[in-house]
Amino acid sequence: MESIIFSSAIAEDLAGYISRQDFSQLGLIMDSNTQVHCYPLISNKIPHHQQFAFEAGEVNKNLSTCSAIWQWMTDCGFDRKALIINLGGGVCGDMGGFCASTYKRGVRFINIPTTLLSQVDASVGGKLGIDFNGFKNHIGVFTEPLAVLISDEFLPSLPHNELRSGYAEVIKHGLIQNADYFSTLKSTDWENQDWKTIIEKSVSIKKSVVEKDPKEAGLRKILNFGHTIGHAFESFYLDSERHLLHGEAIAIGMVTEAYLSYRRMGLPQDDLDKITEMVLKIYGYFDFPNEDISQIIALCAQDKKNEGDVINFSLLKKTGFCEYNIHINLTEIEEAIAYYISLKN
Ligand SMILES: NC(=O)c1ccc[n+]([C@@H]2O[C@H](COP(=O)([O-])OP(=O)(O)OC[C@H]3O[C@@H](n4cnc5c(N)ncnc54)[C@H](O)[C@@H]3O)[C@@H](O)[C@H]2O)c1
Ligand SMILES: [Zn+2]
Repeated sequence: MESIIFSSAIAEDLAGYISRQDFSQLGLIMDSNTQVHCYPLISNKIPHHQQFAFEAGEVNKNLSTCSAIWQWMTDCGFDRKALIINLGGGVCGDMGGFCASTYKRGVRFINIPTTLLSQVDASVGGKLGIDFNGFKNHIGVFTEPLAVLISDEFLPSLPHNELRSGYAEVIKHGLIQNADYFSTLKSTDWENQDWKTIIEKSVSIKKSVVEKDPKEAGLRKILNFGHTIGHAFESFYLDSERHLLHGEAIAIGMVTEAYLSYRRMGLPQDDLDKITEMVLKIYGYFDFPNEDISQIIALCAQDKKNEGDVINFSLLKKTGFCEYNIHINLTEIEEAIAYYISLKN
């Protein structure tokens, strides 16, 4: 497992970490936003390095950006002892890591996640990759970074909706593994958190799950709670004016999948009500036309995690306890979406 370093002084800790490594050249990959907001926090402490910035956004997590990154590595003359630092959100970590782990059959890389989402989720577990011809994370590898350095010093510049999006994964961690954590989150004002504590707790939950099942043969699937229906909403509205950030879509997924948990797994109604109340308070109700429902349901059936015709869900038996490989049919998904719609007022 990669070493995860929680830092309260990122520039110094990064410099210290780098000084203990043996490398030929140092390369830093970032996006156009982290170049402006995050790079200045570390730039004067890093030893001599080459840098590459790509245009921010999921649309650029593709082969043509990879091609530009590999060309830059080639132009810089990086050999197999080069060390790459990825400074950015999940897009930068997934794509920069993918490019590093494939360049000359793999050079080492360090991830410095700068969004809440990438700190609590994408930074752990070694999944790297890019989108391909409209399929999300379609091409990729499992490779662990040499280290992940996590600091909340980057969060103040993060747009509010991006912070809120990452928080959906934090809520999910409580729901699937730790009821006390969920209760604590529910009783605090989500915007005024001690982020350092939240990040450490969430990372420890994700890490403990991934360590038991690195390649998602079983248990790791519980991290997909909220993601089957959530992904369908995310994909359906991807290029529309109703565009949802990942966590905003997962918020809808957690409510609808909590309802499925109530119907199929015996999740107590009181737990369902608490989850619904919390999610709606933070994310509001997402309004969408009834005519979209059938296509959203059809997208659930296309989820990568399915095997054959069966739609596989990870559902809650109770708050803090999640089971996986639960087979759900299209009618049940429709009922879950109807439950969500019933919350509109
Ligand atoms: N590998 C995994 O296990 C894993 C897990 C979850 C998500 N992901 C991937 O992560 C991506 C989503 O990650 P994300 O939400 O971090 O997206 P992102 O990398 O696109 O970052 C979101 C936005 O915030 C900007 N930004 C980043 N840090 C900033 C900062 N500190 N201040 C100001 N702006 C900042 C970025 O430029 C971007 O515009 C998706 O591609 C998803 O597939 C991967
Ligand atoms: Zn997610």
